[in-house]
Amino acid sequence: MAYQETELQHVSRQFQIYGEIQHAETFKIGHINETYSATYDQGGMRVRYIHQKINKTVFKEPPAVMKNLMRVTAHIRTKLEEQGAADITRRSLVVIPTRDGQAYYHNGDGEYWRTFVFIEGTQTFESVQTPIQAFEAGRAFGEFQYHLVDLTGQRLLETIPDFHNTRKRFEALKEAVERDRYSRAKDARREIDFALRNEAMVDVILDSMAKGRIPERITHNDTKFNNVMLDVKTGKAMCVVDLDTVMPGCALYDFGDMVRTTTSPTLEDEEDLSKVRMQMPMFKKLAQGYLSTAGQFLTKTEKSLIAFSGKLITFEIGLRFLTDYLSGDKYFRIHRPAHNLDRCRTQFKLVESIERQETAMQKFVDQL
Ligand SMILES: Nc1ncnc2c1ncn2[C@@H]1O[C@H](COP(=O)(O)OP(=O)(O)OP(=O)(O)O)[C@@H](O)[C@H]1O
Ligand SMILES: [Mg+2]
Repeated sequence: MAYQETELQHVSRQFQIYGEIQHAETFKIGHINETYSATYDQGGMRVRYIHQKINKTVFKEPPAVMKNLMRVTAHIRTKLEEQGAADITRRSLVVIPTRDGQAYYHNGDGEYWRTFVFIEGTQTFESVQTPIQAFEAGRAFGEFQYHLVDLTGQRLLETIPDFHNTRKRFEALKEAVERDRYSRAKDARREIDFALRNEAMVDVILDSMAKGRIPERITHNDTKFNNVMLDVKTGKAMCVVDLDTVMPGCALYDFGDMVRTTTSPTLEDEEDLSKVRMQMPMFKKLAQGYLSTAGQFLTKTEKSLIAFSGKLITFEIGLRFLTDYLSGDKYFRIHRPAHNLDRCRTQFKLVESIERQETAMQKFVDQL
């Protein structure tokens, strides 16, 4: 339930914001967080802020989320300052502390709130429409990773442990098939067979990381296009948001999820599978954008698995949808019966499409 204005104004007043509050309102109730905005009068100037209530169901330890976020945003800011970049407060999230200097406000109801400078003159889109936008998405997430390659000090906290542990995701599916608590396996035979047939895929990156052939990096882990803020006038990516899942991981997971979410013209629950396909022009722009920034730090081994990562992450999400379908739709909210099975089919169809084009995709990347 969205918050009322008086409650929002109360929350807003807990933060170190100068001026008179004019109003506060709902900005976006997303899948994860609740986002609100507040407008202040600062010396005759209208200034906006973003207030977000952190989702405690998904993130068990909001203070850990905020600890990561503070370190990451401070580091990016330093990098931008060193580069002499312009427009720095639109290039990375700026956290406003509470009046007693905390990164978040923890109210009497056990809710956690945080505040950001409102990034003006930008917009977000639910999905990529053009190859130019795909380029911008790739460039923005690649730059985000690039800024964080040299973050020193303690390892970032894992806000969702084993988020991309593809082996564990696979084992969870096998367990759900064996239990078959809702007698649904009979309706998902083809998908289960497809998953089992492709088991070899799940260890490729994990093994390389375990052997030290691929380094652990700091990754975003939610590289959807609606987390890229684009300048309204130029269409250029200014900043990436939604930093709750920033944690140690593999750079390729971020890129793989971009391939999954941007290269097919369909939504992730498309029922007409004939429409689901990996579009090469989108992939090319996405990869060009990503490598224009991430190319500065990726190793040869990482680069050699770029096309594969799209296939792997799409497969992984397919496994998760299938597991959830077999387990009674506990994790992903459904809007129709067998919704999670539909989502799984879409992912697996895309896996096949990527597989058919994988060699060509990688060949393109190799010459960049
Ligand atoms: N600092 C900011 N300035 C302006 N707009 C912002 C800012 N932070 C977030 N937003 C807007 O609010 C939206 C939701 O923020 P965010 O992605 O952090 O929440 P979410 O709950 O994870 O959303 P979703 O489920 O849609 O991904 C963003 O897509 C962006 O449009
Ligand atoms: Mg988001």
